[in-house]
Amino acid sequence: MAKLMGGLATSHIPAIGGAIHKGIQQEPYWKPFFDGYPPVQNWLKNAKPDVVVVFYNDHGLNFFLDKMPTFAVGAAAQYNNADEGWGIPTLPPFQGNMALSWHLINHLVAHDFDVTTCQEMLVDHACTLPLKLFWPEGPCPVQVVPICINTVQFPLPSAKRVYALGKAVGEAIAQWPSDHKVAVVASGGLSHQLDGERAGFINKAFDLEFMDSLVSNPEWATQFNTLELVEKTGTQGVELLMWLAMRAALSSASGRVREVHRNYHIPISNTATGLMAFSVD
Ligand code: DHB
Ligand code: FE
Repeated sequence: MAKLMGGLATSHIPAIGGAIHKGIQQEPYWKPFFDGYPPVQNWLKNAKPDVVVVFYNDHGLNFFLDKMPTFAVGAAAQYNNADEGWGIPTLPPFQGNMALSWHLINHLVAHDFDVTTCQEMLVDHACTLPLKLFWPEGPCPVQVVPICINTVQFPLPSAKRVYALGKAVGEAIAQWPSDHKVAVVASGGLSHQLDGERAGFINKAFDLEFMDSLVSNPEWATQFNTLELVEKTGTQGVELLMWLAMRAALSSASGRVREVHRNYHIPISNTATGLMAFSVD
């Protein structure tokens, strides 16, 4: 059976892609952010996952407001990036793993998750930037299965439901008849609000409590309903649901979940940026 070997979570912001493209990672504005990643990159060089399942939210590239699935799973051989209008370079295509995609889809539907299956799927900065941050050199060395969770248009899935989805994904990975090593990636958060009266809102105390909860009490954030999460984290901060899905997936793996590394830095653009890595020992 496949081995679920760990989980990673990071914020995503289009400007990160611009900074990588310009090679300005060591400038004072960017250094405290980018310095978080080498320990995780080095850990990944040893741990070497073959495939990553990426929980992220599409921002209008693949799904627009006219058609918005709550949960969508990629089932393509290849995922293309495209111009999102942020002025960031378009990255080369990412290779999928269709066997894992269909295994996940079958498992999720059999366990009452009514997912949308996507045999074509454009992937935006939320899917591509974490891969670039974790594997900065050359083409992405891992295969990818993207899972979109709607945090863009109400109604959003509850934290409880997202946790259940993540748990089911973890169970499915553990039952996948394959000798692949699989990692789960979360892309989004932490607290930020891009528009409205509270534009620029950041909640450091909540972010840090949330990060701690993922180590010792991963279901902690499921006590909050969606409006409470928006209040505490901002309208875009609800992207932290991806972190919850990732951590829930690890909770169903056999093995001890151990924190490998973390970083937290405020702000990049409008966002409180977080990074966490967990291994399953
Ligand atoms: C920003 C943050 C996001 O999560 C995003 O998707 C786009 C922009 C920002 O802080 O600029
Ligand atoms: Fe976002």
